[in-house]
Amino acid sequence: MSGCVTLAEAWEAATRRLAAAGVSSPRLDARLLIQQALRIDAARMLASPCDPLGEPERTRLAELVERRTRREPISHILGEKEFWSLPFRVTADTLAPRPDTETLIEAALDRINDRRGPVSVLDLGTGSGCLLLTLLSERRDAWGLGVDLSAEAIEVARGNACRLGLKTRAAFVVGDWAGAIEGCFDIVLSNPPYIAGGELRALPPEVSAFEPRLALDGGADGLQAYRILARQLPRLLSRHGAAFLEVGDGQADPVAGLMEAGGDLSVVAVRQDLSGVSRCLAVTRDDGPRNPKKRLD
Ligand SMILES: C[S@@+](CC[C@H](N)C(=O)[O-])C[C@H]1O[C@@H](n2cnc3c(N)ncnc32)[C@H](O)[C@@H]1O
Repeated sequence: MSGCVTLAEAWEAATRRLAAAGVSSPRLDARLLIQQALRIDAARMLASPCDPLGEPERTRLAELVERRTRREPISHILGEKEFWSLPFRVTADTLAPRPDTETLIEAALDRINDRRGPVSVLDLGTGSGCLLLTLLSERRDAWGLGVDLSAEAIEVARGNACRLGLKTRAAFVVGDWAGAIEGCFDIVLSNPPYIAGGELRALPPEVSAFEPRLALDGGADGLQAYRILARQLPRLLSRHGAAFLEVGDGQADPVAGLMEAGGDLSVVAVRQDLSGVSRCLAVTRDDGPRNPKKRLD
């Protein structure tokens, strides 16, 4: 682009470039990139279409648009993703929180809504910390621990706890699932990696090329992490505790089977996301007489 360029013209041009690169929401992304390059909010952007862009702003915008045409996720470029209306910093080391994952928050809040007293929360595979920190933001008497194998992700989660004013109630440790965690918790949350190895390459480039493989790869059948969680959950759940596990499309039945196979856990509810996909399993300790395997033990 040469000569004087207005905001509206820059928006149009950026939208065309992103559409040509196969970006699925080019107009929205172009607006967000312009806001980022010019450090303005949406209201200013929409109210001032005839404002001219200066040279430094055009250079910054060109760089951001270029990154997006290479299909780098918009959340990486902006450095932030909203989850449950809270802003989470995200980097190349963390999965950008997805709206589907809010299903776990809804389910956990339903469970603790009428419960009095402090609630302890464990978040396994915490990533940006979005699950743990969101629950703590909703429940002022809750405290919790987030675990992740990635030290870089743990740093991001700690930073998010500070930014959200929750650091006094949230701790984060590097660990391999709950291998080194002692004690039990009222709520266990986990959105483990669940993409089957062979399906990783078919994901959109935003995911396959830019999001951490550790956050995606669920082993040959996508269920590897659930096998480990099924072994660890019985000792992690308090007597009236519950775990809320995210599952991929079509995984609710096989994961429920894995959870119940040992005879110590029951899947007590399956919650759907906004698209109607069974997305969240609620799992409790099976201390009752219902399970014959448990009685025989
Ligand atoms: C699908 S991401 C979920 C991130 C975040 N909880 C969310 O819902 O957006 C899975 C997370 O599990 C972590 N992870 C993978 N293997 C792990 C392991 N063996 N122990 C602990 N965390 C692990 C990844 O680093 C990643 O942050």
